[in-house]
Amino acid sequence: MRSRVRASSFPPFKRLTFVSLFLLITYKLRIIIMTKIEILKGDITKLNVDAIVNAANKTLLGGGGVDGAIHRAAGYELLEECRSLNGCETGQAKITKGYKLPAKFIIHTVGPVWYGGNKNEREMLKSCYKTTLELTKKFNIKTIAFPAISCGIYRFPLDEASKIAIDTIKEYLQYNNNLDKVILIDINDEIVERYKNLILFN
Ligand code: APR
Repeated sequence: MRSRVRASSFPPFKRLTFVSLFLLITYKLRIIIMTKIEILKGDITKLNVDAIVNAANKTLLGGGGVDGAIHRAAGYELLEECRSLNGCETGQAKITKGYKLPAKFIIHTVGPVWYGGNKNEREMLKSCYKTTLELTKKFNIKTIAFPAISCGIYRFPLDEASKIAIDTIKEYLQYNNNLDKVILIDINDEIVERYKNLILFN
């Protein structure tokens, strides 16, 4: 019969070695993840990255906020391509070319409108980040920049939205190594500060 191997059956120094090895690996993984995440204040349309993320609406035909800024900067060809995508559901993501933007691609994702938190908003926001990050594998995207999805017109509370963003990105980076850089950028100082505090103290 297979004898159960108990930790106590190892001599003390071996137990210590296992624990210190585990802690070292965990610490190194955390450092790698933290070096891949960058927080910036500024206009996402100016970033020279492989992909920028658009906080779009279900039609994908443009709007205000960052959606409007991206469509203005990318030019009319973006709207032509978006028309061919037949919209996008909340929590999902679709990719287009970047056209006149420095970024090669735009990943359009539709965040949830905040109705108080009882309509699956948190799960939908997490899904925006997850589905967007999953697309980076398929298109060999190494650097990506996110605005604060749903934190403008869709009124998602900043505290909760920034935590969902950072936790979901960190979780992705823990299990996938296809990305070199994930930038969180916003024109809003308050959001940038929240991101920085979360990264520093979490
Ligand atoms: N660069 C970076 N961040 C920006 C920029 C920009 N040029 N413009 C706006 N933002 C930030 C805002 O400060 C906000 O924190 O993007 C975040 C998302 O805000 P919105 O653009 O209002 O997006 P959202 O809240 O997801 O609402 C989506 O708004 O624009 C419409 O068509 C869009 O209907 C959709 C809705």
